[in-house]
Amino acid sequence: MKPVSLLAIAAALIQRVTVLETQRRAPRNPAHRDKLRKRATLEVGLDNEETLYFINGTIGTPPRPVRLHIDTGSSDLWVNTPASKLCASGGNPCAYAGTYEANSSSTYEYIASNFNISYVDGSGATGDYVADTVSIGNQRLNRLQFGIGYSSTNAQGILGVGYPLNEVQVNRARLAPYSNLPAQLVAEGVIQSNAYSLWLNDLDANTGNILFGGVDADKYIPPLQSLPIESTTGVHGEFIITLTNLHLGNRTIGRNSDLVNPAAAGNINNPLALAVLLDTGSSLTYLPDDLVSELYTLLGAVYNATANAAYIACSAARNPPPNASHLTFTFSAPAIRVPLDELVLDLVTSAGVRPTFADGTPACLFGIAPAGAGTYVLGDTFLRSAYVVYDLENHEIALAPTLFNTSTFLAA
Ligand SMILES: *[C@@H]1O[C@H](CO)[C@@H](O)[C@H](O)[C@H]1NC(C)=O
Ligand SMILES: *[C@@H]1O[C@H](CO)[C@@H](O)[C@H](O)[C@H]1NC(C)=O
Ligand SMILES: *[C@@H]1O[C@H](CO)[C@@H](O)[C@H](O)[C@H]1NC(C)=O
Ligand SMILES: *[C@@H]1O[C@H](CO)[C@@H](O)[C@H](O)[C@H]1NC(C)=O
Ligand SMILES: *[C@@H]1O[C@H](CO)[C@@H](O)[C@H](O)[C@H]1NC(C)=O
Ligand SMILES: *[C@@H]1O[C@H](CO)[C@@H](O)[C@H](O)[C@H]1NC(C)=O
Ligand SMILES: *[C@@H]1O[C@H](CO)[C@@H](O)[C@H](O)[C@H]1NC(C)=O
Repeated sequence: MKPVSLLAIAAALIQRVTVLETQRRAPRNPAHRDKLRKRATLEVGLDNEETLYFINGTIGTPPRPVRLHIDTGSSDLWVNTPASKLCASGGNPCAYAGTYEANSSSTYEYIASNFNISYVDGSGATGDYVADTVSIGNQRLNRLQFGIGYSSTNAQGILGVGYPLNEVQVNRARLAPYSNLPAQLVAEGVIQSNAYSLWLNDLDANTGNILFGGVDADKYIPPLQSLPIESTTGVHGEFIITLTNLHLGNRTIGRNSDLVNPAAAGNINNPLALAVLLDTGSSLTYLPDDLVSELYTLLGAVYNATANAAYIACSAARNPPPNASHLTFTFSAPAIRVPLDELVLDLVTSAGVRPTFADGTPACLFGIAPAGAGTYVLGDTFLRSAYVVYDLENHEIALAPTLFNTSTFLAA
């Protein structure tokens, strides 16, 4: 999920990037990457629950278990406290993800009372910034700064793994960035380099994997190709890369779009130049309205304004015609093919029933929605089909088609 305070910057970025040509770059230093694999890495399992991805960890002394929603779109770790209004309300909503009680930990250290994060979906948390020991994947960090949600709207804590520059203490309190979890793993010598790889696996699988400090060659189809992360006036704050083409089957989407980059319009192989945010905290993918409506028309998906998303017949999407069986997202050179069935999410209403169209056909949620005036986001419906390396040290994203259900999965 994106913290709201960066919206203005992101909007400025989109306008800047649409007039830039993108360049493909081979991994800057493939040998270095290979070496990272042989050095210290930290592999941690992920749980896929209703299309959100969780990592298990512990906080404090004695250690309290927490499940954290892993989020490349934000940069702070925060957890709930059991006495908050939300957690103390009926039904014990915070039990699933766990809580942290500062005064019950002998290693708790108070930092400041200015923790205040809000995400674009309207959720958020406020309270203290503190430091304590944090463990993930059986590796212990002696001192990690994080937030406590004395007041929050999420029953689950969030582990933001983005750039430290995107922390709320930087955006809101105008303070210097602190070492967030990936940076602190480097600072405490657990891993060598501030980079990690995310393998979400497919929609039907319930576990994925994050590997800090390395790349797992068994989880993708080579080559792994690198792209520059876009910057704003030389500063890298978010995982934004440039999408250059979108195909449904072999049909180019957006060729007649207003968003076609005039500079690139002559090149029919490269008609787009869209700045897109890679965000595991977003379940859906958000693209320009005209591209999305073109897709809806071609696929027979029906837009619902209340939901700001489209419904599609579950069956039709699972047995698509051969010329519409997948979407291909191209980024200069790397191309990620997303099978249509990865884009169709089962919906169960609060009453426990699946919605239907007027004629009784079961309706599923389509995984791509219009961005409107917001940031373009490649969320989990895209990310599951890609193996993605987030290299915060070299400001590069490396992408390759994922290998679903690879058998070498190691539980942490
Ligand atoms: C996380 O912890 C829960 C509760 O102990 C367990 O059921 C789950 O399998 C764990 N997930 C991973 C990925 O280790
Ligand atoms: C911890 O306990 C002290 C002393 O009882 C109290 O003043 C303080 O507010 C407590 N802090 C938290 C974070 O609960
Ligand atoms: C958190 O920040 C928001 C936006 O700046 C503000 O409206 C809100 O009052 C702040 N909350 C706290 C508890 O400081
Ligand atoms: C991966 O495994 C899950 C669970 O066993 C299965 O439902 C799914 O179809 C598999 N996916 C692929 C692409 O083989
Ligand atoms: C649109 O979605 C909402 C739920 O988000 C649902 O209540 C409503 O019935 C849907 N409308 C149509 C026309 O399907
Ligand atoms: C696109 O695919 C369809 C079948 O799926 C085929 O008939 C057509 O020739 C293809 N067009 C191009 C330009 O490859
Ligand atoms: C697939 O082929 C059908 C029949 O020729 C056509 O109506 C449809 O528009 C094509 N879909 C795409 C995405 O090209």
